Amino acid sequence: MENRLINSDTIENYILSNPFIGKPENLYNSMNYIMQLGGKRMRPQLLLLAYLAKENSLNDDVLKLALAIETFHNFSLVHDDIMDNAPMRRGKKTVHEEWNIPTAILSGDNLLTKCYELILNTGVSHKELILKEFTSMASLVSDGQQMDMNMPVKEMVTEEEYLKMIEFKTAVLPACALKMGAIAAGFENHECQAFYNFGVSLGLAFQLQDDYLDAFGAAEMIGKQEGGDILENKKTILYIHALKNLNEDLSKELKELFEANQTFNNSYKIDRVRDLFIESGSKDYLLKLKAQYEQDALNILNPINMLPDIKESLFNFLGSLQNRKS
Ligand code: IPE
Ligand code: IPE
Ligand code: MG
Ligand code: MG
Ligand code: MG
Repeated sequence: MENRLINSDTIENYILSNPFIGKPENLYNSMNYIMQLGGKRMRPQLLLLAYLAKENSLNDDVLKLALAIETFHNFSLVHDDIMDNAPMRRGKKTVHEEWNIPTAILSGDNLLTKCYELILNTGVSHKELILKEFTSMASLVSDGQQMDMNMPVKEMVTEEEYLKMIEFKTAVLPACALKMGAIAAGFENHECQAFYNFGVSLGLAFQLQDDYLDAFGAAEMIGKQEGGDILENKKTILYIHALKNLNEDLSKELKELFEANQTFNNSYKIDRVRDLFIESGSKDYLLKLKAQYEQDALNILNPINMLPDIKESLFNFLGSLQNRKS
C-alpha cells in the first residue's frame, strides 16, 4: 500500500525502531521475534488510514496506537498458535516451538500488557474512549477464540455460529483499529461507528479468505502448516456447508474424517477433505460469501465523508485483500 503519507516501510520501521526492552532476555527476545517476523501489518495500516482520512500527517502518538494494535495482533497469534498446535507462522517456527509453551504464554501476556502501556503513553485526544474501545475488543477476541476452540468437539455447528465466532475472533480487531484511528482524528461518533462497521465486514471477508487459504493454499505461500485447520478438525464454513450439501455417504465420511480419535495419515486426510470441500460446492460457497462481505464493506465505506485520496487507498486496500495469496 502506498499513498501520500504512508508507505509500506512506515510501520515496519516503527516496529523495528521500537523493540520491547527488558529482562529476562528470553522473554523479550520471544516478543521481539514475533513482532519482527513480518506479516501484512494490515491492522496498523487501517488505523493510520482512518486517522489520515481527516488529519494531514502522522505523529508519534498515532504511530504508538498503530504499534499497540499490531502488538495486540501478535499477542493473539502467539497464543493462537499454542491453541491450534501450529508449528509455523510467517514462514518461521512459532514462538512455542522456538522457545516453549510457558515462554509463549508469558510472551503473549506481556505483549498484551505492552499494548496498554503504549496506549497510556500517547498524548492522543479521547484517550479514555480509545482505551475503552480497545478493551471491549480484546475481551471479544477471547470470546471468539473460545468459541473456535469449542467447535471441533461440538456435534453441530451452524453457519450463524461460525459467523459470530469469526466476527469476534477476527473482525472486531480491524474494526477497532479503524475506529481508534477515527477517534484519534476527531471524527464524529456516527462516523467512527461507520469505520468500525466497515472493518467488521472487511474482517469477515478476511477470515473467510484465511479459511480458504488454510484449506487450499500451499505452505510456502501462506507461511503456515498446510491444511492446519483440517488437521485440527476446525469447523469452518467449508466443513459446515459440505456436511449439509454432500450425499449421505460422503457426509458420513467427512464426519468420520473430523472425528477427534481418528488416526488417518495427514496427507491422505487433507487431500480427501479438500476433494469433499470442492465436490460439495463449499469452496465456491465460501468465495461467494466472501464477495458479499467485500461488497458490504464497499457500501459502508462509500458514504463516509473523508479525504478522497484516503478513501481511494481504503478501496485499494480492500481490493488487495480480496486477491491475497498469503
Ligand atoms: C492471521 O492474521 C490471523 C487471522 C486473523 C486470520 P494475518 O493473516 O493478518 O497475519 P499476518 O500478520 O499477516 O502474519
Ligand atoms: C486466528 O484465527 C484469530 C486470532 C489469532 C485471534 P486462525 O487460527 O484462523 O489464524 P491463523 O490461521 O492461525 O493465522
Ligand atoms: Mg491459528
Ligand atoms: Mg485459531
Ligand atoms: Mg486460519
